[in-house]
Amino acid sequence: MNIKLTEKSSTKTEIRFITPDELEKSRYKKLLESAGFEAKEESSCFLYEKEKLFVGLDDKTPNSLRTAAAVAARALKKANFKTVALSVNEKSIKPVTEGLILGAYEFDKYKSEKNDKKITIELVSKKASELKPLFKEAKIIAESTCFTRDIVNTAPDDIHPGTFAKIAKKLAKENGLACTILEEKELKKESCNAILAVGRASVHAPRLIHLAYQPKNAKKRVVLVGKGLTYDSGGLSLKPATSMVTMKMDKAGASAVLGMIKAVSELQLDVEVHAFIGAVENMIGGNAYKPDDVLTSRSGKTIEVRNTDAEGRLVLADVLDYAQDTIKECDYLFDFATLTGACMVALGQYTTGVMGHSSRLKHSIGKAASNAGELTGSLPFNKHLRKLLKSEIADICNIASKPYGGAITAGLFLDAFIKEENKQKWLHFDIAGTAYTESPWDVNNYGATGAGVRMMSEFVKSL
Ligand code: BES
Ligand code: ZN
Ligand code: ZN
Repeated sequence: MNIKLTEKSSTKTEIRFITPDELEKSRYKKLLESAGFEAKEESSCFLYEKEKLFVGLDDKTPNSLRTAAAVAARALKKANFKTVALSVNEKSIKPVTEGLILGAYEFDKYKSEKNDKKITIELVSKKASELKPLFKEAKIIAESTCFTRDIVNTAPDDIHPGTFAKIAKKLAKENGLACTILEEKELKKESCNAILAVGRASVHAPRLIHLAYQPKNAKKRVVLVGKGLTYDSGGLSLKPATSMVTMKMDKAGASAVLGMIKAVSELQLDVEVHAFIGAVENMIGGNAYKPDDVLTSRSGKTIEVRNTDAEGRLVLADVLDYAQDTIKECDYLFDFATLTGACMVALGQYTTGVMGHSSRLKHSIGKAASNAGELTGSLPFNKHLRKLLKSEIADICNIASKPYGGAITAGLFLDAFIKEENKQKWLHFDIAGTAYTESPWDVNNYGATGAGVRMMSEFVKSL
């Protein structure tokens, strides 16, 4: 799909967004209603003889417009139009552009037959030249989200820690970012024993990746950390067969963090951003780490392993520690991870779980997320849940002793590796539910959603 911003359209064929009120007054009301169309979210109707695609929406808020644009993009794939016009204004240009790009997204890397229908969408406004910066911004954010989706959707045999590092290196080269990659030898030197233990049974050695965007006169410094399990079999605490399918998505946190630094650097924001990624594969084998093992993490804290499937928090413990030692002073420290199934139980699959100590920070992130069209929900820490991580033989256990509140106890485990001076700057995002979907919703099609990228781009922009 090719999207153009123009003052004048070259076609009569058009997309019309229509609310229930507008439908009442529309001269196409009878025709549309006889075709069974209702002006509500996620509904659309072609009137071929009128050369119009109608898309319903509840109201004209940016979030409704973004969703409607995604519905339009999906519908257009089934149509035989070459060029379609859609009128936009200052308020709609950004969400509409995002919705079109995200809704049109398709992962066809492994398909022999690609959908090669070329369609041009003309976004029409008399003020086209004034809208250009907003159009460009929306394109960068949506395309960075699709970049993240592509990585997450790629099969685990094609993206393992080594290839993940190559992707990061390529992005760094293209976008002028600094790039450091720690391989096995360096990880040993750094005492990243938790990362090394999780990755030990894999034929693909783990990597710790650090990318940095450092503009002159940066106003703030943001540190991002991503869980990059290129595959999570569960390890010796093996996942059941049906739960293992889709576990290529366990690299979604790391992939999101890459998408975020891509967006921020292309938007040329005055904010320094560091992305730290633990790229590891959790497998089984004669040399696998085991339930009952005790690991000495990079921080020096010892961890009793009681479940090798709670591996993400082990990897993050080392990456968080390395990140905080490498970047001594930051304004924000955020980690993104497909960390727990429990987060989906708590919030559903459409909401990212947010945990941390600063209510103010949680609030401002919630606002940025909502402006960007992502749902977040706060999961509260408490001292009772924290006690469940106590170990009889080590400093901490990698799973809680009781089964409830699993998303929060995972967050509390990470909290043990946050330095005192960063407690108020840190938030943990559990994207286990939101990162991947097998049924389309909102702007998301089958597969990876790119969760986190829009929210964080919006937040960094607001700084
Ligand atoms: N990667 C999974 C979490 C996950 C589950 C992500 C489903 C996306 C969809 C994580 O490593 C894991 O296995 N967590 C365990 C923790 C448990 C052993 C305490 C879980 O959620 O079951
Ligand atoms: Zn796991
Ligand atoms: Zn995992």
